[in-house]
Amino acid sequence: MKKVVLVTGANSGIGLALCERLLSQDAQLQLCLACRNMQRAEAARQALLVSHPQAQVTLLHLDVGNMRSVLSAAEEFKQKYNRLDYLYLNAGIMPNPRVDHKAFYKGLFSSNVVRMFATGEGLLTQEDKVTPNGLQEVFATNLFGHFLLVRELEPLLCQMDHNSLVIWTSSSNAQRSAFSLDDIQHQKGREPYSSSKYASDLLSLALNRHYNNRGLYASVICPGLVMTNLTYGILPSFFWTLIMPIMWLIRIFTNTFTLSPYNGAEALFWLFMQKPESLDSMAKYHSLTSGLGNNYTQPHKMDIDENVSEALYVKLLELEDTVRKKLRDEDVDIKAKN
Ligand SMILES: NC(=O)c1ccc[n+]([C@@H]2O[C@H](COP(=O)([O-])OP(=O)(O)OC[C@H]3O[C@@H](n4cnc5c(N)ncnc54)[C@H](OP(=O)(O)O)[C@@H]3O)[C@@H](O)[C@H]2O)c1
Repeated sequence: MKKVVLVTGANSGIGLALCERLLSQDAQLQLCLACRNMQRAEAARQALLVSHPQAQVTLLHLDVGNMRSVLSAAEEFKQKYNRLDYLYLNAGIMPNPRVDHKAFYKGLFSSNVVRMFATGEGLLTQEDKVTPNGLQEVFATNLFGHFLLVRELEPLLCQMDHNSLVIWTSSSNAQRSAFSLDDIQHQKGREPYSSSKYASDLLSLALNRHYNNRGLYASVICPGLVMTNLTYGILPSFFWTLIMPIMWLIRIFTNTFTLSPYNGAEALFWLFMQKPESLDSMAKYHSLTSGLGNNYTQPHKMDIDENVSEALYVKLLELEDTVRKKLRDEDVDIKAKN
C-alpha cells in the first residue's frame, strides 16, 4: 500500500527539505504539499520533480491560520485520499521578531551563549495580531489551525488496519514560562511563538492519550537552529553570514546548530522510519548535527505534565466549538443577505 504524507508549510525551509528527503527514501510515496501560496507551492513541486520526475506530488491550498481554509482544505483532502499515514504539522510563523540587543550582547560574552542561540530564550519577542476569525495569529497558525486539521482528518488518521503519525515541528524555544492556561492564545504576553510551541508539546501528549486506542499517534521534534526564512526574519541574512564562522565554531561544542534545512529535517525524516507505537510520548526528538557534520536524532524528555496537557486539550475543544459556531453563523448571515 502506498503511504500518503501531508506536509504543511512544505514550500520552503525545513518542510521542503523534508519532502526532498522523503521522496529519496520512498519513491512510491503519495506526497501532498499543503501551502497558503499556490505559486510558491507549485515552484516547490517543480523543484521536487526535477530530482524525482516520477514522484506523485500534489498541492493543497491551506492557510492554516484561517479556519475556513482549514475546513475546506481538509474536505478537499478527504475527497482525494482515503488514508493518511503521516501528517507533518510544520507550518509556523514568528511575526516581527525583535531581538533584545542588550540581552543579546550580554549573552554573547556569557557562558549562556550556546543556550541563547539554541533556544532564543529571553532574547526574542514578537508582535502578534488578531485574525479575521478573532484568534491570535501565532496561536492560530502554529497551533489551533493544525489542531482543527487533525480533528477534520480524523477519519483518515484513525483507521483500524494501520497506525498513523501526526508530527509537530516544535522548538527548543518552547518554554513553560511563556505559556499560561489562563491565556492559551498568549494575548497578554510578548512571546507568542514560545507559548504556541510549548502548547504543541502539551497537545501532542494529549493527542496520544485520546487517540492511541484509535491508531493515531503524535510526536514532537525540534529541528535545531536552521537558516530559513524564519531565522532571516529575526536577523537579516547578511548578519547570519557574518557570524557564520562563529556558528561553525560553536557547533564543535553543541550539536543543536543544524544550520541547513536538510540537517534540520533529520528528526522529521527519522520519525518517518519509526513505528508510531514505539515512540515515547514524553520525548521531543531533536535533529542534531555533530562538529563533523554528521546528522542524528536524539530524544529529550519534555518539560510538560499530563494535567496541564489535558486542561489545554479541553480548552481547545471548547474553542473549536466556538469557532465552528461562529463560522456557521457567518454562513447564515451571508445566505440571508443574498
Ligand atoms: N528555522 C529554525 O531555526 C527553527 C527552529 C525551531 C523550529 N522551527 C519551526 O520549523 C517550522 C518550519 O519553519 P522554517 O524554519 O522552515 O521556516 P520557513 O522557511 O519560513 O517555513 C515556514 C513555512 O510555513 C508556511 N506558513 C507560514 N504561515 C502559514 C499559514 N498561515 N498557512 C500555511 N503555511 C504557512 C510558510 O509558507 P510561506 O512561504 O507562504 O510563508 C513556509 O512554507 C516552523 O514551524 C518553525 O517554527 C524552525
